[in-house]
Amino acid sequence: MTSEAIGGPKLFGPEMLADPYPVYHTLRAADPVLWVPTLDAWVVTSYEAVSAGLRDARLSSQRFDRIRGRAESKLPGTTVDPSMRSMIHMDPPDHSRLRSLVVKAFTPRVVDAMEGRIQGMIDGFLSGITCPGRMDVMDVLAYPLPVTVIAEMLGVSPEDRHRFKTWSDEISVILSGDVAGLPEAEVKRAFDARHELVDYFRSVVARNRGGPGTDLLTALARAEDEGGRLSEDELYSTAVLLLIAGNETTTNLIGNGLLALLSHPDQLERLKGDPTLVTSAVEEMLRYDSPVQMTTRMAKVDLEIHGTAIKQGQWVFLMIAAANRDPARFPDPDRFDITRADNEQIAFGAGPHFCLGASLARLEGQLAIRSLLSRFPDLKLGTGAIEHRNNFNLRGLKSLDVVV
Ligand code: HEM
Repeated sequence: MTSEAIGGPKLFGPEMLADPYPVYHTLRAADPVLWVPTLDAWVVTSYEAVSAGLRDARLSSQRFDRIRGRAESKLPGTTVDPSMRSMIHMDPPDHSRLRSLVVKAFTPRVVDAMEGRIQGMIDGFLSGITCPGRMDVMDVLAYPLPVTVIAEMLGVSPEDRHRFKTWSDEISVILSGDVAGLPEAEVKRAFDARHELVDYFRSVVARNRGGPGTDLLTALARAEDEGGRLSEDELYSTAVLLLIAGNETTTNLIGNGLLALLSHPDQLERLKGDPTLVTSAVEEMLRYDSPVQMTTRMAKVDLEIHGTAIKQGQWVFLMIAAANRDPARFPDPDRFDITRADNEQIAFGAGPHFCLGASLARLEGQLAIRSLLSRFPDLKLGTGAIEHRNNFNLRGLKSLDVVV
């Protein structure tokens, strides 16, 4: 079926920013695999089909040429540099080679050992807040936490973290690979920011090269020096990816998750009564309002998804956030329930590209929510407007005003 048959709901338009979930239900009920001419792509919305699609080796992650084509046609004169081609845009064997170089830094064991350090950062961010009072949680905690954690892992000096954060925010608008609906100025700024960031990384690597550092950037440079394991472009594409993939996503987990919790006072009381529920609460936050709404794939061969024929070369948009609200998988999917059983949400994707930073993001989310509730037991939503950032895929809040 094509989206015109159901009145062609405007996908990715501003009207979907406030609440995309009713549109997902309409799309899924019409056809879980729907052709949307304005996107020139299939849009997949059922849990079963999205989760199978993420694991399907016949669907390629090689989006680089599409990004390049769309960006260069939108912004004549822009050149998309090959160091933008990171592992998230690759298939095996290149994907596996690059992923294997950094996967050890993100295993649950390594991440668990970072708990004390991350808690210390959170305590530092929250220490300036006095009660009674109010704060913008995005500003005080959700923004600074992920960038500080990853900057430390990469070995970036603390004084540079503000520049780092700005670059990361600017670049993240092009992370999803589809620049079609974005304002030109934002796309241009994103490409410029990427050049600046790569130059910055080059200077850090040049300074630390050959040194004893145990940070990720030095480890990647060492792998490049040892030869054959990664190219120079790949070194920088990996560093940029690690910075931006975990930044705004984790910010949005904290913001969207806290908003859901504070908007459901019964769930908030339950969590306050039993702080050990924070683990399942964060899983429900990831399901209920997923920080990454979708990802894309390209059919390598003719194939079928849920009985629909997809032709080789066609694009498939896997709507993760729609899958996470599929009533066929999650009973009463629009209910926010921090004790939901059988909550196998797919906010971190699935299959070979399953989020490398999932354990880290979960830990940051759990510690942030736990710390907010234990420090400020009367935490409530303030009266500030709830507005979403202008990024359909990386869904998150501009600010989150709370009273403490
Ligand atoms: C709540 C926070 C996060 C969410 C919701 C999230 C979501 C995702 C998703 C959906 C994918 C798969 C994309 C695809 O299949 O096309 C992914 C991949 C990835 N994520 Fe995350 N992410 C989060 C945090 C992080 C963090 C903290 C890091 C690292 C510091 C990170 C690094 C990566 C990397 C490197 C990939 C690519 C993996 C690959 O291609 O094999 N993410 N993430």
